[in-house]
Amino acid sequence: MEIYQPKPLQSHPPFVVAHRGISGKAPENTLAAFSRACETPGIDMIELDVRLSKDDRVIVLHDRTLQRTSTGNGVARHYSVAEIKEFDAGSWFDPAFSKERIPTLDEVLALVDKRRWVNIELKSDFFFPEKLELLERRVLDCVMNFGYRDHVLFSSFNHRMVGTIKRIDPRARTGVLYNIYRDYGRMPSKLARRVGAEVFVCAKHELSHRMLRDAQQSGIAVHVYTLNSTAVVGRMIEMGVDGILSDVADDIVKFVKNPTA
Ligand code: G3P
Ligand code: MG
Repeated sequence: MEIYQPKPLQSHPPFVVAHRGISGKAPENTLAAFSRACETPGIDMIELDVRLSKDDRVIVLHDRTLQRTSTGNGVARHYSVAEIKEFDAGSWFDPAFSKERIPTLDEVLALVDKRRWVNIELKSDFFFPEKLELLERRVLDCVMNFGYRDHVLFSSFNHRMVGTIKRIDPRARTGVLYNIYRDYGRMPSKLARRVGAEVFVCAKHELSHRMLRDAQQSGIAVHVYTLNSTAVVGRMIEMGVDGILSDVADDIVKFVKNPTA
């Protein structure tokens, strides 16, 4: 069985990261989207979003609510995993995916089975904060149970959560997500160092040469989202980023790993 050998997070050519799986061709954050990413040679990492169910289990879901990406309605936190499993998480994308369900983090880690890095993005909600450290501890428990620590990058827009992960497990690799409204004017090194993170993640239009230079001089890797065309990917490779998140990582990977082909 193929086991992915971890490599340094500062990387050229950059890491190719399947954003919410191959979410351009299968419903985002489902096993269908993740298995496509595992089956595509050269993809380094799979990004996914996590939050908690009513019974405090870690589920893989981007939005706070269910209705955009499933047949469920309302706030996911109000449903147990058993209830969430009733909802169809694929038909909104294409009826061919009607069997897809919202996965638990356990199910995804079992599927990926160390064939790729996993970037676990912890979601938090300013208006509905979780019990202190609950999501962080639940996520770390899953990762430790699967012996997956050396294959995971933990990230969040909520930098307190990133700091908590690092405090509980100083060996964890972590990344801070840039919120331009909150963080504008602060350099990547400052944001990352405050919570001991190794990676700075931002949207493609938010990255300046100055920010990139600052990160490179401080040994902080820079990952950029969401790049779905080779023209933009080419510009970002030229700038020298270390990771590229794409909804069509299966297409982008050929270009990144072999730009002249
Ligand atoms: O982790 C990078 C990216 O996924 C952050 O934005 O909204 O796609 O989770 P979002
Ligand atoms: Mg995300």
